[in-house]
Amino acid sequence: MFGGRSTEHAISCVSAGAILGALDPDQYEVVPVGITRDGQWVLAGDDPSALAITDRKLPEITSASGASVVLAESELIVRDPVDGVSSLAGVDVVFPVLHGAYGEDGTIQGLLEMAGLPYVGANVFASAAAMDKEFTKKLAAVEGIPVGPYAVLRAGVSLSEADKERLGLPVFVKPSRAGSSHGITKVTDWADLDDAVATARQIDPKVLIEAAIVGREIECGVLESEAGGAPDASLLAEIHVGDNDWYDFETKYITGGGYDLPAGLPDEVTRQVQDYARRTFTALDCAGLARVDFFVTADHQIFLNEINTMPGMTPTSMFPLMWAATGLEYPKVVDRLVRTALR
Ligand code: DAL
Ligand code: MG
Repeated sequence: MFGGRSTEHAISCVSAGAILGALDPDQYEVVPVGITRDGQWVLAGDDPSALAITDRKLPEITSASGASVVLAESELIVRDPVDGVSSLAGVDVVFPVLHGAYGEDGTIQGLLEMAGLPYVGANVFASAAAMDKEFTKKLAAVEGIPVGPYAVLRAGVSLSEADKERLGLPVFVKPSRAGSSHGITKVTDWADLDDAVATARQIDPKVLIEAAIVGREIECGVLESEAGGAPDASLLAEIHVGDNDWYDFETKYITGGGYDLPAGLPDEVTRQVQDYARRTFTALDCAGLARVDFFVTADHQIFLNEINTMPGMTPTSMFPLMWAATGLEYPKVVDRLVRTALR
């Protein structure tokens, strides 16, 4: 399942295209269910090449012709997700390659639980907790995983003067539940804060204000153990943002800033980040997979940034690249995810 109602619709399509290309047709019969931006379920074409970013144009699932990217003729259009689930009868396992709201936040997982369908990835609670940057931080912090200074602005609330003083400038203003950097603004002058909060609130009424951490952007892939027990952590990657000021949407998917894989960190720091990544996965009760993102300062202080329970799986996404560098190629990752979901 891919596309969906979130701001990450297009990225989900690109992730799904890469997964479709990696699934061995001798082993899997794929039913590609696209979800349009307005929530209709469409039996989409399974040509992975239609699901890519070409000339800066992002793919989109639509149920009518005239789509910005035309996928194969739809054979099934279901308006109601509950009816959609009944159309999945006979499917052995669902891979919800959905990022963001209505996909990575426990909602689709709840529907699949109700229908008794096994699925790849985190369960209802872990999905919801990991989607929400406030609760990610709170759950990780009680497990001793360091998080940076932040404030939560619930709907209608403004940042207090005391919090401005505590956080200092610059700050990052983020929708609490979003992904792919949508709705995020770096604020370097308090006069710009209200506009930044309004931008974030277009996505989520609850907004996080985070103190900017001057450091390296380090990511770690985590996979549920095949043998049971503690999850496995990948080699680490360091993200570079190129000419951009921070790791925004453009850098993530269009221009690309480059990366080091493995990140050039001392062994001891690497082990500590991997330990925090595994512990964050476990603290939130995750399953299947996650990518855990950190900041590491010049003096090797480590801060959790966030966790993604359905990380980007596009050809340029760090999760599959980190696992490939660790010795698990993309098709093997996908295969392992399906097998763990069926266990
Ligand atoms: N939210 C995007 C897809 C990611 O974390 O990779
Ligand atoms: Mg994210």
